[in-house]
Amino acid sequence: MQKSFISHNQEETENFAKELASDILSEKNSAGQGAIVVALFGDLGAGKTTFARAFAEALGVKEKAKSPTFIIFRKSRIKNLPAGEAGQESRIKNFYHFDVYRIHNEKEILNLGWEEIISNPQNIVLVEWAEKIEKILPDSAIRIEIKHLKDNEREIAVNF
Ligand SMILES: Nc1ncnc2c1ncn2[C@@H]1O[C@H](COP(=O)(O)OP(=O)(O)O)[C@@H](O)[C@H]1O
Ligand SMILES: [Mg+2]
Repeated sequence: MQKSFISHNQEETENFAKELASDILSEKNSAGQGAIVVALFGDLGAGKTTFARAFAEALGVKEKAKSPTFIIFRKSRIKNLPAGEAGQESRIKNFYHFDVYRIHNEKEILNLGWEEIISNPQNIVLVEWAEKIEKILPDSAIRIEIKHLKDNEREIAVNF
């Protein structure tokens, strides 16, 4: 699927992130074997963290104020994700929020157990600055590019 959205303010970006989170859960919850990986591309100030926080909130995760820019990733337990189509319990149990801005190469992420994290079907993994780890993103990653157009206008392009 491919879609593109023009956001005019922070709230529109947050709402779009929340809608996308529920689309992703309903489409991907039962499919595939590994984790759901959401890769965010875009420059500083594009709105990646804004998007990520709203996305997390839609999963029932309330992130604390501290941005993961200061830590490479944060893992949050997901408690009561709404059940899937057939009413079964969701397979998703953990939300990982990575911000890889400060890394120098992919190896630093591999050393944190990346392969294991992305192969666990209980995980949903969101990465800010995905351009830095392009080589180790799974083919199945949902790619989202946020472009700063002007002032508060952003183009959000989604590919999966
Ligand atoms: N349409 C918009 N969508 C998202 N953020 C916006 C928008 N317009 C203005 N902003 C502002 O841009 C900044 C984005 O910051 P942030 O989400 O931390 O970006 P990044 O993580 O990509 O560096 C915030 O201060 C936010 O309020
Ligand atoms: Mg950020």
